[in-house]
Amino acid sequence: MCGIVAYTGSNPAVPVLLNGLRRLEYRGYDSAGIAVNTPDGISIRKSKGKVSELAGLLGEDETQIAESTCGIAHTRWATHGPPTTINAHPHAGGKNGIVLVHNGIIENHHALRSTLTAKGYEFLSETDTEVLAHLVDSHYQGDLVDALTAALKEVHGTYGIACLSEKEEGVLVVARRGSPIVIGVGEGETIVASDASAIINHTRQAIYLDDHDIAKISQNKIDIRSSDNVPVSREASEIDWSADAAEKGGYEHYMLKEIFEQPEAIRNTIRGRMDSERGTAVLSGLDLSPRELAELQRMLIVGCGTSMNAGLVGEYAMEDFAGVLAEVEQAAEFRYRNPIVGSRDLVIAISQSGETADTLAAVREAMDKGALVAGLVNVVGSTIARETGRGVYLHAGPEISVASTKAFTSQVSVLLMAALKFSRSRRMSVEQGRRFVREIEAIPELVERVLAKNDEIAKIAEKYVDQTSAFFIGRGYMYPVALEGALKLKEISYIHAEGYHAAELKHGPIALLEKSVPVIALCNDGPGKDKTLGNVAECQARDSRVLGIVTEGDEEAMAAVNDYISVPPCPLHTAVIPSTVALQLLSYHIARLRGCPIDQPRNLAKSVTVE
Ligand code: G6P
Repeated sequence: MCGIVAYTGSNPAVPVLLNGLRRLEYRGYDSAGIAVNTPDGISIRKSKGKVSELAGLLGEDETQIAESTCGIAHTRWATHGPPTTINAHPHAGGKNGIVLVHNGIIENHHALRSTLTAKGYEFLSETDTEVLAHLVDSHYQGDLVDALTAALKEVHGTYGIACLSEKEEGVLVVARRGSPIVIGVGEGETIVASDASAIINHTRQAIYLDDHDIAKISQNKIDIRSSDNVPVSREASEIDWSADAAEKGGYEHYMLKEIFEQPEAIRNTIRGRMDSERGTAVLSGLDLSPRELAELQRMLIVGCGTSMNAGLVGEYAMEDFAGVLAEVEQAAEFRYRNPIVGSRDLVIAISQSGETADTLAAVREAMDKGALVAGLVNVVGSTIARETGRGVYLHAGPEISVASTKAFTSQVSVLLMAALKFSRSRRMSVEQGRRFVREIEAIPELVERVLAKNDEIAKIAEKYVDQTSAFFIGRGYMYPVALEGALKLKEISYIHAEGYHAAELKHGPIALLEKSVPVIALCNDGPGKDKTLGNVAECQARDSRVLGIVTEGDEEAMAAVNDYISVPPCPLHTAVIPSTVALQLLSYHIARLRGCPIDQPRNLAKSVTVE
């Protein structure tokens, strides 16, 4: 949510900043801005809309801006104040030429604004960030680090900040609390960003700031301090994916690329983690001591959005196979409802980004209550990964499209592996375990077979493109698939869509069914199929057109629906993945036919770092 880039070095800053913003645009894209040090002070350019509009503002005749070697930039997802040019970052403060960009929320901005106004500060925007700029100015006595350190002591809320002062040319000061800051260490240059995708073209050496760190960066020096101004040491680590991984690679959209990357992403997720001989999964990040295992009372899975939908599959598999009591819960609800959780509970936090504010807060709450806490995270070095200390990385590669695809299927793969691991340490026999291993290893190929139907799915999408509303239904393992299918459709096509348990449809939503409201029904062959086919008939009796996800060769299911997409035969716990891929493609093609901005849907952000 909001992307920050900053640069100081010996090369022109503007191209680095603009390229970085383009990489971070998935975090927010309603306005963008840039500020650079020049011999005449700090020049700021801002624009409503996307980064391309900002780039258009930076004319070649602006030599001083073009020659600057130090600057900061921002792409915004509006929280305080609508997406206007005035509200766009960077914001300038007071008389000392302080300019900053910010990702996060200053919760006490009203009170600070009143105090600063009383001191004579004038505000131009409605943002909480401008308050911060004036506050830093009010503490400035010639040293930007000192001023920022003092200002942040008065601030409640979250921030990732990059700050310039016109009196300290070539110096960047950055700070974090709750919103990520990565420092890319180059040769004679430093690039700071909200995530590694904006720095990977320049360097693979990354320092991830911890909460409360404040860093002063000049061309050749990075000096990191705690909030009490005590020097702290943060090791650089190597970014382990290539710059190409964050490119579109010939696909029209990142989303389509990421859908097609799923066989490889899942292979990477399971690589080296399956033990076919012992019939189990090796997930050292989920190793419990024999005592913890014996005392384990419950597994609680928390996440938001797509990650929570994946968690529901985990709940089912954990109870189904391992006999471990499992519950999934919205991270936002968990953190505020004073949950009963303790040392005999294992809390698994699922998050692609590892930065989602509510999931992070749930992790902290669970840790405070003494639970065992593990992260299931894609972004290496992210806050949840670091704070949980234990867990499993997805290794799905960077996910750029706002609508999550490959992260979901990798999350489900890990959860199935976790269910296998826990099952084997309880009642599951080695033979059953070996079968489970084979089922998980077959998933990438199942996905390839669905991807081969891309053109067929695109044709089916044509029939569903003009709807304003749709319902997705499923039961058992297919219920989370219905939730995820509906989420994908509404996110990227703006068609109102809801996922329901197939039986629950009768308790209300059926009142909305009519000819113009289609139903997408998960009718995979397995337990519950007959009942779902009964629900399909109920929908058709109310004139709804039904698109079924059916198992290849299942003539009964094919005959029962109006249109179908078939997925390869496999047990329902793994059918979750190919069935979801079919629905991802369906949503993609519907959105494409409707001309929607697929990778950057309106109002959404990839990483929600505010509550
Ligand atoms: C946002 C994204 C979703 C994502 C959710 C959780 O809403 O748009 O795609 O599922 O956040 O994100 P996380 O990074 O924690 O998985």
